[in-house]
Amino acid sequence: MTTRVTLASGRTFEARPDETILAAATRAGVWLPSACGVGSCGSCRTRIITGEFVHRGSTSSLGRTDDPAAALLCRASALTDITIDIAELSEPPARERPTVPARVIALKRETENVMRVTLRFPPFAKPDYTPGQFIGIRHSDGFDRSFSIANAPREDSSIELHIGRVAGGAFTGHVFEQLKINEILQVNGPFGSFVYSSQQRPSIFVAGGTGIAPIRAILEALTQEISSSPLHLYWGSSNRNGFYIDGEIKSLCAAIHGLTYAPVLSVPDASWTGLAGLVHEAVLQDFADLSGIDVYACGNPHMVNATYKAVCSRGARPDRFFADSFDHR
Ligand SMILES: Cc1cc2nc3c(=O)[nH]c(=O)nc-3n(C[C@H](O)[C@H](O)[C@H](O)COP(=O)(O)OP(=O)(O)OC[C@H]3O[C@@H](n4cnc5c(N)ncnc54)[C@H](O)[C@@H]3O)c2cc1C
Ligand code: FES
Repeated sequence: MTTRVTLASGRTFEARPDETILAAATRAGVWLPSACGVGSCGSCRTRIITGEFVHRGSTSSLGRTDDPAAALLCRASALTDITIDIAELSEPPARERPTVPARVIALKRETENVMRVTLRFPPFAKPDYTPGQFIGIRHSDGFDRSFSIANAPREDSSIELHIGRVAGGAFTGHVFEQLKINEILQVNGPFGSFVYSSQQRPSIFVAGGTGIAPIRAILEALTQEISSSPLHLYWGSSNRNGFYIDGEIKSLCAAIHGLTYAPVLSVPDASWTGLAGLVHEAVLQDFADLSGIDVYACGNPHMVNATYKAVCSRGARPDRFFADSFDHR
């Protein structure tokens, strides 16, 4: 049985119980704000004014609200007729616009499970992004996969992605087993609000695994600025190979005044002399009071949520916690 969704403008459309409200809107030709499509970025976040709904799958960008009416339209399905407090867009969101072709110009196997993929765009489609944002890559199954851009904008407008292998993953499996130089990938974006906005405030960056990618982009951009505020980077991994760009990060530290860096190994061997344990615990060990400090976290949803709870318990402001959580379909 279908339900009826009514927008603030009065426009209505039907939704099936097995589809998200965002998918129902798209099917009806109604454009609503959206970007990642997997509950991570918060672009489709809204309030349900009347009616009942259920979230399916990860909703990490909602983890930071107590409002029971807050909904992510890319994860919420309507259980009854509902009214939503959101304005429709006059044109399709970028996610629904045609993709642009990007050529694979370099592939570097950083570790068994991390591939660095460099893409170049045609002159008419040079990516215009802010460091920290991500792109969507359309797979042959018709669904987009999100990947953070790992570099600050370059003269040749190439972008670099750090793609972690997912066991049984369709797209990441393709990347590790079949992707070749010169292959064309269909890309959309850029998307996301995980961008640096703390020029006058001390900040802590917390990365898990390939969550270092957007932070690398932000730090690379910061080498062009004179920062007066202390910056601290903690990078967590369960094995040493996981610090696959340790040397590059150390070079960025040398180029950015006031940046400290600590790799944190969750399963340390006998010869490890660095920080050990979960990455958010390492932050707590170093900072008794986080009031006045902005926190940027990126990585898997468990790590991002654990970091959020940990730093807020030490006085970090929820509205000064910024995250990209690597959620998936
Ligand atoms: C905003 C954003 C930015 C991202 N940036 C990056 C990035 O820079 N680097 C990067 O490596 N990844 C990143 N991700 C995660 C990445 O999008 C997914 O890992 C990817 O979509 C997996 O696609 P797949 O086709 O291989 O897996 P699918 O075929 O779509 O999924 C196969 C199975 O694996 C599960 N799965 C999929 N992805 C993951 C995962 N990440 N962890 C655990 N289980 C998973 C699925 O639920 C499913 O059961 C980002 C995600 C988001 C939302
Ligand atoms: S589009 Fe719904 S959270 Fe990103």
